[in-house]
Amino acid sequence: MQQYPVEAVGLVKSFGSFRAVDGVSFNVLDGECFGILGPNGAGKSTTIKMISCVSPVTAGELRVAGMNVRKQARDVKSVLGIVPQEDNLDPDLSVRQNLAVYARYYGIPKHEALAGIEESLALFQLSERADARVDDLSGGMKRRLVIARALVHAPQILVLDEPTTGLDPQARHLVWQKLRLLKNRGVTMLLTTHYMDEAAHLCDRLVIVHRGRILTEGKPLALISEHAGDQVLELRMDAHERAPLLGEVQGIPGVAVEEVEDIVYVFGAPRATREIAEHVNDPSRAFLRPGNLEDVFLRLTGRGLLD
Ligand SMILES: Nc1ncnc2c1ncn2[C@@H]1O[C@H](COP(=O)(O)OP(=O)(O)OP(=O)(O)O)[C@@H](O)[C@H]1O
Ligand SMILES: [Mg+2]
Repeated sequence: MQQYPVEAVGLVKSFGSFRAVDGVSFNVLDGECFGILGPNGAGKSTTIKMISCVSPVTAGELRVAGMNVRKQARDVKSVLGIVPQEDNLDPDLSVRQNLAVYARYYGIPKHEALAGIEESLALFQLSERADARVDDLSGGMKRRLVIARALVHAPQILVLDEPTTGLDPQARHLVWQKLRLLKNRGVTMLLTTHYMDEAAHLCDRLVIVHRGRILTEGKPLALISEHAGDQVLELRMDAHERAPLLGEVQGIPGVAVEEVEDIVYVFGAPRATREIAEHVNDPSRAFLRPGNLEDVFLRLTGRGLLD
């Protein structure tokens, strides 16, 4: 039987009668970056907490590196690097001390720990702030420190719950760059996000989740081409203005139209829609662009990821 870094089969988490995770199944492959993309409340953190052995599984199976999270929590934790959604750094300790505490927790011999800590700090560009108190760091630095801390025991599998939420674009790109570097070094990654561009940038494969369930699974580009088509036309105009334009495309095989609030999305049929865009000639009213993962979510749920 093949052993996956993470394997979930019919995974359920209930809070009373509410199922926050409602029977999800997925496998993370060795060395890949696997994403869980979904809006607020979809059940992403709940899934991560079960994988991290901080929240018990209600039903179904969940294995990490072949180990059952119910029975081998200690061993599971030793192979995982965990980046929780909420920063849980010790604000009274320095940057370096925060990592040292973790190294001790994992029982890493002191001389080894020192080298690992300095390497992690350098990787995330925190060496210069090693003696600063955590409270004095910016939000972006704190986030980088949480990721650096997760690497102190050289985990096989890195689990990241919204690694870049709240960061500015520059800080975000730095984190992406470092995560790609780690992936190139062979670290398997499982990350959650509600940023479709983050998922598209980093993930080899992903699942899109909504209300505790998986809507679809696949490679980002394949999902986009399957559900959104290569080109998407956005129409922001009154119903009577757009009626003749929609009349041109509706009924063409592969074209789908979805109305979300005051925007109408036309998926697929690039030739016909390009004609329409020329016809309209005003980017604030008609906008033709490549499809993306947000469109996939939109098509499957009739709503946006960030609504
Ligand atoms: N301890 C708890 N008790 C009761 N309900 C909970 C608990 N933890 C989470 N939930 C509920 O489970 C659902 C999923 O929450 P979860 O934190 O997993 O979502 P998420 O996908 O991580 O969302 P976000 O993007 O906002 O972080 C939500 O409706 C949440 O209110
Ligand atoms: Mg969450």
